[in-house]
Amino acid sequence: MSGKNVTEVRLADAAGIAEAARILESGGLVAVPTETVYGLAARADSAEAVAKIYAAKGRPDFNPLIVHVTGLAQAERYAEFSPEARALAAAHWPGPLTLVLPRRPDAGLAEAVTAGLPTVALRAPAHPVMQALLATCGFPLAAPSANRSGFISPTTADHVCASLDGRIDMVLDGGPTSAGVESTIVAVRADGSVEELRPGPLAIGVQTDGDSIEARLEAPGQLASHYAPGKPVRLNATGAEPDEFLIGFGPVAGDVTLSESGDLAEAAARLYAALHEAARASQPRIAVASVPDDGVGRAINDRLRRAAA
Ligand code: TXA
Ligand code: MG
Repeated sequence: MSGKNVTEVRLADAAGIAEAARILESGGLVAVPTETVYGLAARADSAEAVAKIYAAKGRPDFNPLIVHVTGLAQAERYAEFSPEARALAAAHWPGPLTLVLPRRPDAGLAEAVTAGLPTVALRAPAHPVMQALLATCGFPLAAPSANRSGFISPTTADHVCASLDGRIDMVLDGGPTSAGVESTIVAVRADGSVEELRPGPLAIGVQTDGDSIEARLEAPGQLASHYAPGKPVRLNATGAEPDEFLIGFGPVAGDVTLSESGDLAEAAARLYAALHEAARASQPRIAVASVPDDGVGRAINDRLRRAAA
């Protein structure tokens, strides 16, 4: 598949990272590996560069982007950190945690990054390639998941090409991602309270008030239909109908399995690859075994519900 790509796919070695930094510096788009999913990066301080992200993805302009930084020191240039926010960053960065915080008036970020909101979403990714790239660039990188808006997120360079080939300048290939689902997003309020906006690999002990996140649309990208494989998806399956491709888990064996041993971290890492495979399969429908709703299982079920919506 890689042989036919129009967009150049480069190994994420030192030369590949240097080339990616050059493209980004001049306002181009590069798909980059993180520990969660591949991101579609552009410099966050350039309106022209950020506009290209929305165009390449077909992303609605009301849906703001996560700004990626090397760590807390850089993040403090863009947002107001309360003591609670600083403690979360200290405990979990670099890692799969995104903090939604009040944006600093002098942040110097392109307006489109925050879609007009007074807040900004910040994350310091742990992936060594992304860390090296951010350090080389010096400027922050806006990066949503590197897929066409509404479709399945990418955990390999091939997944990125399947969705965005010819629409972006380069893919930096760092191999399959390890966590497999997008970062946990929490908002830290002025009063210090913390609210989870999107479940992810990190379970932060936050109180939710029972009001559904979807209803409030606080993370505007958390739309009901997302991660769509382009076919009907049936959840909590114990077996396959004749016209279904079955994604198994634990005792439910499938055409593929998220984890034969019932391991949730393994299931998260394999989730999007399984959905990509199911989308490509000959069967017109997809069925998925049930996955326990604890730990990262909450993030898996959140994504599966949207894939089925
Ligand atoms: O793991 C991840 O978070 C990946 C990698 C590439 O870092 N990125 C990612 O980006 O998942 P994206 O654009 O697919 O999802 C970002 C989510 C969207 O639901 C968006 O609405 C929300 O973050 N978001 C961004 N800025 C926000 C803000 N200021 N307030 C509330 N939600 C925000
Ligand atoms: Mg996404």
